[in-house]
Amino acid sequence: MLAMSSGWRLAGHSVGLVPTMGALHAGHLSLIERARAENDRVAVSIFVNPLQFGPGEDFRRYPRRLEDDLGRLAEAGVDAAYTPGPDDMYPSGAATRVHVGRLAEVLEGAHRPGHFDGVATVVTKLFNAVRPDRAYFGQKDAQQVAIIKRLARDLDTGVVVVVAPTVRESDGLALSSRNVFLSSAERAAALSLSRALRTAGAAYAGGERDAVRLKAVLVQAMAAEPLTRVDYAEVVDPQTFEAPGTLAVIAARIGGTRLIDNHDLSGPFPG
Ligand code: PAJ
Repeated sequence: MLAMSSGWRLAGHSVGLVPTMGALHAGHLSLIERARAENDRVAVSIFVNPLQFGPGEDFRRYPRRLEDDLGRLAEAGVDAAYTPGPDDMYPSGAATRVHVGRLAEVLEGAHRPGHFDGVATVVTKLFNAVRPDRAYFGQKDAQQVAIIKRLARDLDTGVVVVVAPTVRESDGLALSSRNVFLSSAERAAALSLSRALRTAGAAYAGGERDAVRLKAVLVQAMAAEPLTRVDYAEVVDPQTFEAPGTLAVIAARIGGTRLIDNHDLSGPFPG
């Protein structure tokens, strides 16, 4: 990968990187399109990163569809698909981790201990393997975005972190590789997340600024759906992930599937 991207850079081409874990959907493809529009060459990585999954999580059953994905990447006109295996990424003896302090310990980080160290470590490695000018991430994973922006600056990567909006189904559900796990009843219940964000957005537009009451709106709207078990709901600053702020961030479990979503309450909810 490094030899290929070095060749591109020597030829004067700019390089964009889109890191993914595969099972590609329209959200991933929106990042790829954006990267294609802004760079001469685009690399997409597909790697289901064991480091970012906790012991009780879905690493084993995470959807893996490499053949399909490679077909989509070819159609999308990307220049390289980087698909390392676990032993390429973490050969025996690998011992170094990247940790992003408090930002990685709240909210998602509190519910998934070690998750963001795994993300920060693999993204640092991907930046070093590709040395992109720009790297593309989805707002769907708002805390991941804040962490990677912080990491890119703190470690002098020189990589410009570009953030693209969340792609949703027409009914509001944010696209996720994990949506394939939802039964039809769970798929209906999953709408409680986007509904909660829309409801809180309406409350904010109506003048509600009290973080505790906005949080209550989010929790009630999610809990109105009996299949939805709320993990957290907070309204925070999008950079620090601390209150006060306008970014509503929520997580819930529906059956065995954990979903997250977010929305900046100061703007209109899309759709
Ligand atoms: P993955 O979940 O495959 O997501 C890859 C990228 O696609 C992330 O930047 C994510 O925010 C973005 N994305 C996912 N769903 C989206 C949607 N509905 N709309 C817009 N963008 C969306 O996030 C990861 O993989 C991993 O943590 C990774 C960064 C690759 C590190 O392993």
